[in-house]
Amino acid sequence: MSGEGKVVCVTGASGYIASWLVKQLLQLGYTVKATVRDPNDPKKTEHLLALDGAKERLEIFKASLLEEGSFDAAIDACDGVFHTASPVLLSSNVSQADVVDPALKGTLNVLRTCAKVPSIRRVVLTSSDAAVLSNGKPLTPDVTVDETWFSDPNFCEKSKLWYRLGKTLAEEAAWKFSEENRINMVAINPGMVLGPLLQPTLNASVKPILNLVKGVKIPCETYSWVDVRDVAKAHIQAFENLTACGRYCLAERVANHFGIFKILRGLYPELNPPEEYTEEKASEPTHRVSKERAQSLGITYIPLELSLKDTIESLKEKNFIIA
Ligand SMILES: NC(=O)c1ccc[n+]([C@@H]2O[C@H](COP(=O)([O-])OP(=O)(O)OC[C@H]3O[C@@H](n4cnc5c(N)ncnc54)[C@H](OP(=O)(O)O)[C@@H]3O)[C@@H](O)[C@H]2O)c1
Repeated sequence: MSGEGKVVCVTGASGYIASWLVKQLLQLGYTVKATVRDPNDPKKTEHLLALDGAKERLEIFKASLLEEGSFDAAIDACDGVFHTASPVLLSSNVSQADVVDPALKGTLNVLRTCAKVPSIRRVVLTSSDAAVLSNGKPLTPDVTVDETWFSDPNFCEKSKLWYRLGKTLAEEAAWKFSEENRINMVAINPGMVLGPLLQPTLNASVKPILNLVKGVKIPCETYSWVDVRDVAKAHIQAFENLTACGRYCLAERVANHFGIFKILRGLYPELNPPEEYTEEKASEPTHRVSKERAQSLGITYIPLELSLKDTIESLKEKNFIIA
C-alpha cells in the first residue's frame, strides 16, 4: 500500500471533500492526523472514526484557521499536508470577513507551521475554480478554461464575490509564501463538487442538487462539475506523483442547473421541472474546462450521470430526500 509508514495531516477533515480524502488515505495505509474545530461534536468526528483503518491510524486534533500556531501539533512530524479547511459560504449575503479572513489568513497560518517542519515533502492546497475563472472574461462556448487562467481579485471585490475573492487571495498568497520558504506545493482547483456524502450534514455544493430535486426555484447558473471521489483521488495523486507540480483544474463537465435537471429527470422521470425550465436552456452550449493536466494525474472522471445518481441515493439514505 502506497501510504504505509507515511503520516499526513488533513485540515478541516470533517468536511465533505476532506472526509473522502481521509477515507481514501486510510484505505491506502496512511496514518492521518485530522484537524477539526470541535473534536467534541460527534457530527464532525463520528463518520471519520467509523472509517476502515481509523481505529489504528486516525488521530483527531483541534485546530482553528484564525488561531496562530493552532495546527502545530497536527502538522508536526508529517510527511505531507492536505490543506482543505476553508469556509464554503457561497451565498451573496455573507460578509467579506467571514470568508476572506479564514481563507487567506488561515492558509498562511497553516503554511507558516509547514515551513517549520522539515519532514514535509509536499503540501497539497485545496484551491478552487473560483481562483481560476473569476476575471470578468466572458465564458462563451468557444472558450476553454485551463490552469493558466487566474481570477482577478479586483473583479471579485467589485462584484462582491467574497468566496471567490477569499479563494483567489489564498491561492495567490500560498504560491508566494511557498516559493519564498521553499515549500513544495501543488494546488487542486475543482469545479462544483458533487457525489455521495460521508458526513451527516448537508454541504454547500450539494445543496443546489437537493433544491433541483425538491423543485425549489434556483437561478439557472453554469458551473463545472466533478465527483468528490475524483477530487479526493486527485489530491492523493498530486501528493504521491513526484512529477506533479503547479495547479490542476478538475471538471468532468460544464453544465447549467437546467442541464443538471435534464440528467436528473433521465434518472428519475417523476421529477417536476423547476420554474422557467426549458429544454432549449437545458441544452445551451457552455464553455469547456481543459482535462489535460487532470488526465496526467491519472484522473479519468466518474461520469456526471453516475455522480448525480450517487448524490441522490446518498441524500435519500441520509433522509434529506424522503423517498
Ligand atoms: N465543494 C465544492 O464544490 C468545492 C469546490 C472547489 C473547492 N472547494 C474547496 O474545498 C475545501 C473543502 O470544501 P467542502 O466542500 O468540503 O466544504 P465543507 O464540507 O464545508 O468543509 C469545509 C471545512 O473547512 C473547515 N473550516 C471552515 N472554517 C474554518 C475555520 N475558521 N477554522 C478551521 N476549519 C474551518 C470546516 O470545519 P468544521 O467542520 O470545524 O466546521 C470544514 O471541515 C474548501 O477549501 C473549499 O473552498 C470546494
